[in-house]
Amino acid sequence: MEPAAISIQNLVKEYQRNGKETLRAVDGISFEVRKGQIFGLLGPNGAGKSTTIKILTTLIQPTSGTAFVNGFDVVKQSIDVRKNICIVIQENAVDTYLTVKSNFLTFGKFHGLTRKETETRSGRVIELFGLKDVLNQRAMDLSGGMKRRVQVAKMFIVDKPIVFLDEATTGMDTFNKRATIAAIKEESKQGRTIVLTTHMLDEAEELCDAIAIINHGKIVASGTTGEVKKMGLEMFYLSLKVKEMTKELEEELKQHQPVKMETKESDIELTIRDHDTALKILSILHSRGLLLNFEMSSASLEDVFVALLDRSVTET
Ligand SMILES: Nc1ncnc2c1ncn2[C@@H]1O[C@H](COP(=O)(O)OP(=O)(O)OP(=O)(O)O)[C@@H](O)[C@H]1O
Ligand SMILES: [Mg+2]
Repeated sequence: MEPAAISIQNLVKEYQRNGKETLRAVDGISFEVRKGQIFGLLGPNGAGKSTTIKILTTLIQPTSGTAFVNGFDVVKQSIDVRKNICIVIQENAVDTYLTVKSNFLTFGKFHGLTRKETETRSGRVIELFGLKDVLNQRAMDLSGGMKRRVQVAKMFIVDKPIVFLDEATTGMDTFNKRATIAAIKEESKQGRTIVLTTHMLDEAEELCDAIAIINHGKIVASGTTGEVKKMGLEMFYLSLKVKEMTKELEEELKQHQPVKMETKESDIELTIRDHDTALKILSILHSRGLLLNFEMSSASLEDVFVALLDRSVTET
């Protein structure tokens, strides 16, 4: 079988911090990305997304574990890894004094392309990312979101099999974001593997073939986007109003292992893992004459995301 585009086993990264205890930013993660996939690494701020990307792109070394990119070991064969990738880092990286066009030319040259090659490829990228109107503007004069679009576009001038995008659409308005997402999708059809990080669930849903949700350096859910979404379809959100909230009732509800539970006076909000449990809770409350009002709905993907993250916090 063809090797995976990316293969990570038990990856750990610890940061030594002056005067503070060691921080395990990546805590034993494993996953694979198949060739040609758009893969999303999702998670809240500080989850360990950028750290993972930095290891995969050889900017930093892991504390332990292994990672292979296009079949090459990120530690032992870092030069080969670099030949196979390009990366948009979270911090901005365009040459602000140069025009957009010069940015592209410099980038092509840096990667060993002739001027002619760069121009041909730029033409396609300019078209795809809709950059015709800003070509002769200096990058520093562009808005933050547009600068970001130029930066993402730049990656597709060179023909590397794996592209890493760390928070590619940060700072873009909806319009800009839509255009960029469409262009990234189009690029992946050319057979490239794209690994991106985001904390925007809707963006991941639209773009990614597979995702891993990461929190505190650990994977809390992973699979194809469809599989992860399915977890959402199987979760229910219950909003209840009861006659009287007691400690006993709270304990009893907890026994049904809600993914999430919040109580405020006589209002209870629960996220429940399955339909039967949700109905059981309702029938218990009803039979005791406690239930004043209720609402039940499918949990949104956002709910699932939050619930998974919440659970991963209580488990650590
Ligand atoms: N060089 C470093 N030294 C010490 N701690 C670091 C360093 N880089 C990152 N960290 C810490 O490691 C954790 C993970 O950071 P990381 O940048 O990987 O998160 P992230 O998921 O990319 O977050 P964000 O969504 O905010 O970009 C954070 O707690 C961060 O403060
Ligand atoms: Mg980050």
